[in-house]
Parts: sequence; C-alpha cells; structure tokens
Amino acid sequence: MPLHEDYRPKHFAAVVGQDSAIEQIQNVLARPSKSGRAWHISGASGTGKTTLAHIIAALDADPFYITELDAARLTPAELAEIENEMRYSAMSAKRGKAYIVNESHGISAATRRQLLVTLERLPAHVVFIFTTSATRQRGLFDDGSDPNQLSSRCTQIDLECGEDARKAMAARAKKIAMAEGIDGLPDEVYIDAIDQCRGNLRMLLGQIESGKFVQTARARQAMRDELAALQSDSRKAATVRRKEIEDALAQ
Ligand SMILES: Nc1ncnc2c1ncn2[C@@H]1O[C@H](COP(=O)(O)OP(=O)(O)O)[C@@H](O)[C@H]1O
Ligand SMILES: [Mg+2]
Repeated sequence: MPLHEDYRPKHFAAVVGQDSAIEQIQNVLARPSKSGRAWHISGASGTGKTTLAHIIAALDADPFYITELDAARLTPAELAEIENEMRYSAMSAKRGKAYIVNESHGISAATRRQLLVTLERLPAHVVFIFTTSATRQRGLFDDGSDPNQLSSRCTQIDLECGEDARKAMAARAKKIAMAEGIDGLPDEVYIDAIDQCRGNLRMLLGQIESGKFVQTARARQAMRDELAALQSDSRKAATVRRKEIEDALAQ
C-alpha cells in the first residue's frame, strides 16, 4: 500500500490543518436531523477531502455499506438503482448507507438533475458526500439551468491550503517520514517541500516514499547553508553565486 494510504486518517483527530472545517462538520452532526444528510467538500488536491468523506461515512455506515461512485460514469439509470437500494437500512450494526462521489464536477447534467430529486428525499439512514478538487470547478457543480440548486441541498465544507494548514501538513509529513525510518530532516525542509507541492500532502508523501524528496531536500539544504555562509562576503564572485543560489531556490 502506498505511504499516503497507510497513513490515511481514520478519525477527525488525525486530520491536520482543517480545524475549522472539522468544527463545522461536528456542529452540523450535533444537530438532530430527521432526514439523511448531504455534504459537499471542496478544496485543493491532497488536502483531505476524500479522507474526511470516509470519516463522515464511517460514522453511520459499516465498510460494506460505503459505496464510492465514479462521478463521470454515474448515469441516471445507475442512480435510480441506488435510490432503490438506499430505501432500506443496512443489515449491519450501524444500519446506515453512505455514498461518496469524488470529483463530482464530472457528474453529467442529466444525472445532476435527477440528483436534485434524490437529495430532496434522502432517508434518515443515508448520507451522500460529494467532493470536488479544483476551486475553479466549484461552480461547475451547479449548471446554469439550476443555479446553486445542487450545492444548496448539501452542507458546504471548504478545506484550507493556506500557511497554517501547510505547516500542520509539513509536521505530519515529518512525523511519518521519521516513523518509517525514511528521514527526519529539519522542519523547514518539510515546510519548503509542502509549498513546492502546493499544499498537496498526498504528493509530498509520494515524494518521500520514492526517495526523490530526500535528495532534493538535501540539495536545497546545502544551497541554503552555502547562501548563509556567503551572506557577509562582499566579493563580486560571492554576489554572483548568491544570486545563482537564490534563483535555484526560488524554482
Ligand atoms: N488534512 C490531512 N491530514 C492528514 N493527512 C492528509 C490530509 N490531507 C491529505 N492527507 C494525506 O494524503 C492522502 C490523500 O488525501 P485525500 O483525502 O485523498 O485528498 P483529496 O483532498 O485529494 O481527496 C491521505 O491518505 C493522507 O495520507
Ligand atoms: Mg479525493
């Protein structure tokens, strides 16, 4: 199993950098509800959308009753079948059924129209969770014909990928690297690396696993050390070299 799957959080507490989203989720969950719930989680790639979808799903449904649907291939006919099947609660301890639709901007217009009806009358034991990755595609979830209708039927959760979230992800990446005996470089190296990955923790864990990260990180650290050593050197050659290093580090 790839490293990022081995370390996919199973509980809210292990999800890092998304405190306000998790607080919002828990507030919604604390309110009583007579019908099933629908969620739409959006945010940059590798920030925890699918992870949170699974955690929410697992609160109400046992693994056999958590279904991941392929957004692009979800047809109205398949959706009709799902509607049929979701009328009955699950024959398992948790009784609930959960449906996760990743990359939901890919849902066809016909399926989307039918989903509006599905979401209108969700049985109490059912939870639907949509995720979309690209922020610019957030709007695509609602086509022109039904402005905001689909997402207005969902609780909207936006994930962070700003500085605080990245810091928390860098710390988690370092912890994982150390636990795996892969490497425990200084904190700044991981912060630098998560920025290079635009806040995508899956990508960073992949790089750590492949060994490429350690090489790149070492090279970047060596450049930073050299830059520090050259700081008080006023000779022309030193100035040229500093510029070279700064350019290389900015890439
Ligand atoms: N906020 C997070 N906290 C902890 N691990 C995370 C977080 N975001 C991503 N990961 C790691 O990256 C992997 C992929 O995350 P995922 O939830 O699938 O991202 P996406 O937002 O693209 O759906 C997870 O299995 C986990 O190892
Ligand atoms: Mg995902």
